[in-house]
Amino acid sequence: MNSLYEKISAAADYVKGRTGGKIPLTGIILGSGLGNLGDSIEDKTIIPYREIPGFAVSTAIGHKGNLITGRLGGKDVIAMQGRFHYYEGYSMEEVTFPVRVLKKLGIKYLFVSNAAGGVNFDFKLGDIMVIKDHINMLPNPLIGKNMDEFGPRFPDMTHTYDRKIISMAFGAASDLGIVLKEGVYLAGTGPSYETPSEYKFFRTIGADAIGMSTIPEVIVARHSGLRVFGVSVITNEAHDDYAPDYVNNGDEVVKVADAAAKKLTLLFTDIIKGLE
Ligand code: HPA
Repeated sequence: MNSLYEKISAAADYVKGRTGGKIPLTGIILGSGLGNLGDSIEDKTIIPYREIPGFAVSTAIGHKGNLITGRLGGKDVIAMQGRFHYYEGYSMEEVTFPVRVLKKLGIKYLFVSNAAGGVNFDFKLGDIMVIKDHINMLPNPLIGKNMDEFGPRFPDMTHTYDRKIISMAFGAASDLGIVLKEGVYLAGTGPSYETPSEYKFFRTIGADAIGMSTIPEVIVARHSGLRVFGVSVITNEAHDDYAPDYVNNGDEVVKVADAAAKKLTLLFTDIIKGLE
């Protein structure tokens, strides 16, 4: 078994074998602290990443490392409780491998979530931002020989974040009494947080929130024609007017994301209920 395509197929076959061949409609990637959404999945099968051939093992804080299949909002879903980051030393192939496995398993939609620094001055701790577009400052995961089995050499990224699902999200949020922001997500390599000047720079070029993930998975998802919906939980206000004793060390990140997980679960469940 040599080719990447064969490895992806083997991983998908393994998961199918564990879940009775059910075809999930939606894949969900749960970022830092957001893994608790997995607890709301009903009739679940939990498969640790280490048991899946070809999967890497997640080492980041707040990431559990399980694939969970089951039902959410009455629909078949498959959730990644924890993702792989480029800053952990994984290659882009490893970071995006699970998305292609989910595609092989038959998902039509990919929901992504992350913890991010809010560079938009209107954003406050704990806000949920719907991602309307992105700016990629990580290496592109499609560099190398194109995987024609999944999509074209030069995939269109004009409508990366599905407008129809975004409008469903705002409808669901208003029914649930959840306030949503909307903005552009930028990802860099990390793992160091940005300097005040870098936050200012990224705001100036059009970013609203900044993180270290998500975009590689989204690019690979769009390459293979999946419809994508994404949210960022604002876990630190990256406003560059820091008090002299301010420390940006990530302690708040998991705490704030944990607190937002409940709202995010309600939101995702309500949107997924309406997907066909
Ligand atoms: N920068 C980059 N990644 C992040 C941040 C940040 O300020 N907060 C949470 N993830």
